[in-house]
Amino acid sequence: MTDPLPIKIDDHPFRFFDNREKYLLFVTTTSEKAVIAERVGRELGRINPRPPALKIFDAGMGNGVVLRRVLQDMHCRFPTVPFVVVGKEISMEDTRLSLDELPDRFAEHPQTVVVISNLYYAEAPGLMPNQAAAQENMQWWDVPLTGKTAHDFSKQIGELDDILQQGWQTKSSTKTGNPLYVTPSVLVLYREDHAFSLHDIIPQRGKSMQDYDLVIAAQPYRSRTSADFKVDKILAPLARFLGVGGRMVVVQSTGLDPGMEIIRQVWPNEDPFLTPRHTLITALKEALNKDTTSYTFDGASDDRSLFTYHMHALPEEIGSNIGTSTLLAAWNAAVYVAQIEDDRLNEVLRHGDYLEATKRVIHRHGGLWFQDESFVVVRNT
Ligand SMILES: C[S@@+](CC[C@H](N)C(=O)[O-])C[C@H]1O[C@@H](n2cnc3c(N)ncnc32)[C@H](O)[C@@H]1O
Repeated sequence: MTDPLPIKIDDHPFRFFDNREKYLLFVTTTSEKAVIAERVGRELGRINPRPPALKIFDAGMGNGVVLRRVLQDMHCRFPTVPFVVVGKEISMEDTRLSLDELPDRFAEHPQTVVVISNLYYAEAPGLMPNQAAAQENMQWWDVPLTGKTAHDFSKQIGELDDILQQGWQTKSSTKTGNPLYVTPSVLVLYREDHAFSLHDIIPQRGKSMQDYDLVIAAQPYRSRTSADFKVDKILAPLARFLGVGGRMVVVQSTGLDPGMEIIRQVWPNEDPFLTPRHTLITALKEALNKDTTSYTFDGASDDRSLFTYHMHALPEEIGSNIGTSTLLAAWNAAVYVAQIEDDRLNEVLRHGDYLEATKRVIHRHGGLWFQDESFVVVRNT
């Protein structure tokens, strides 16, 4: 498995979360996060939480909006069930954004334990690094939040920057350019006034977590990585942390949308989405059903799997005279979803006809939408 060669930024390889401005513009100008949370919400109706808690894992929280919306849905469905919410995020900035989404969750659902780590996909659900040396070095913060209001919690969470500075430094893999943690780190948050009732579900250092009711794997990898990489390094290890009856929801882009039409106006042979869900399901079936544990897969039919989201734009903004900011937002969303590397992008930005290409596609479709696909892995025994 070889990842594409990383490009250089200053003195380090390009890291996927370097293009923050594209990511932040994308998440604020499109409805993807709300639509993904809705898709994940459909699975909440199919899980049967068992005492002592409903356990969920978010494989790459990003800005934390999908998780926050899913927690809102969970509170609505299971108002009195304790929640153990474990999330992984390697990017310090994204971890900071995700933390900012939590104060209202603690206020509305006091019986909540949130655990955030920068561990790798195969380590993070268990809160246990694979390497003995990393287990030794692991930093663990247990932070009981005082007070009762979202404001109280927001203040304390805002003061966690030292912990992020200490725990969420990254270095780049010399092999792939991918970000690696400098120190494996775990941050545990819960309300102090509920510490007694939550005592038995607050994770302890050195004790591996297991048996998740729900695993969210929404856009957890770079689209151009191989099916083997996605299955062996990310999806199969995550599925093995499911409890019996547990469900893992996988969401990825399809590129069967006007977004890719814009991209192909500029890069006609561009094809970033080489591992459609059926390819991943086949490889996962093979990887998972080797041992006694049995898994089933739900996602064959397009009806149940495909869903679309769109770029926010008022009708008059996409009329005959599309404003430059709308065009730039549309172009940015198309480039972000297709994960075009910066060096190729800079080349095109010099010529400027990419905005004309964007305008043509928006006019053709009366707006801009994108298509994601999803499938579910269920652990049966
Ligand atoms: C596009 S964001 C998706 C975030 C969130 N799941 C959502 O749907 O909004 C990609 C996520 O995958 C993680 N990710 C992608 N590639 C990664 C890599 N090579 N190593 C570690 N994390 C990676 C990022 O940290 C980020 O959390």
